Amino acid sequence: MFRACIRPDLDLRILEERHAETVFALIQQDRAYLRQWLPWVDATETPADTLAFIRSALEKFAASSAVTAGIWHRDEFAGVVGTHEILRLTRRVELGYWIGESFQGRGLVTDACRAMITHLFEDRDLNRVEIHCSVSNLKSAAVARRLGFELEGTLRDSTLAGNRLHDAYVFGMLKKDWHA
Ligand SMILES: CC(C)(COP(=O)(O)OP(=O)(O)OC[C@H]1O[C@@H](n2cnc3c(N)ncnc32)[C@H](O)[C@@H]1OP(=O)(O)O)[C@@H](O)C(=O)NCCC(=O)NCCS
Repeated sequence: MFRACIRPDLDLRILEERHAETVFALIQQDRAYLRQWLPWVDATETPADTLAFIRSALEKFAASSAVTAGIWHRDEFAGVVGTHEILRLTRRVELGYWIGESFQGRGLVTDACRAMITHLFEDRDLNRVEIHCSVSNLKSAAVARRLGFELEGTLRDSTLAGNRLHDAYVFGMLKKDWHA
């Protein structure tokens, strides 16, 4: 199993097909909270949908076109951190994340993102990482700010959340600023 220990109570593991039921169970349990911000939640109706997501993520991992990892808190599945499609020509990528409602407030996402971003800059030779979030998603914007990302602008009606379009903040981090 691929596993990176980030801190004593947090590790990142590549999502495998055998995790589909566990991942789906958390989505099912926290559906109302997650669907406020994540447009794919309503389309995730059965464990088979989560299995399809994991298979697609594994294919992209093998092709080096995206990286997705599960967030585990004390050996319990807590959420996901992962990239969208890596844009090779411009060496940039957008990062996404979610965590179960009861796992919030422990810095798990911030630390998971920090490890993932270091991997993207150091091992994957990327130059720019973006975080996009609804301007109303204060907790997500706080993750970007806590990581030192710069707020670069607002995209109007750019993100779908809770069945309506929201303006989105674009936060950016460049490799040269990451370790500063
Ligand atoms: C957005 C989301 C991931 C933020 O989760 P979070 O738990 O607030 O983020 P972190 O895990 O980084 O935890 C930060 C919190 O833990 C606290 N914390 C405790 N220990 C910490 C540590 N070692 N390091 C950093 N923060 C720590 C911080 O003070 C902060 O608390 P606060 O919100 O009261 O200020 C979560 O709300 C979520 O999944 N929402 C639904 C899906 C979503 O919106 N995804 C993003 C779409 S753009």
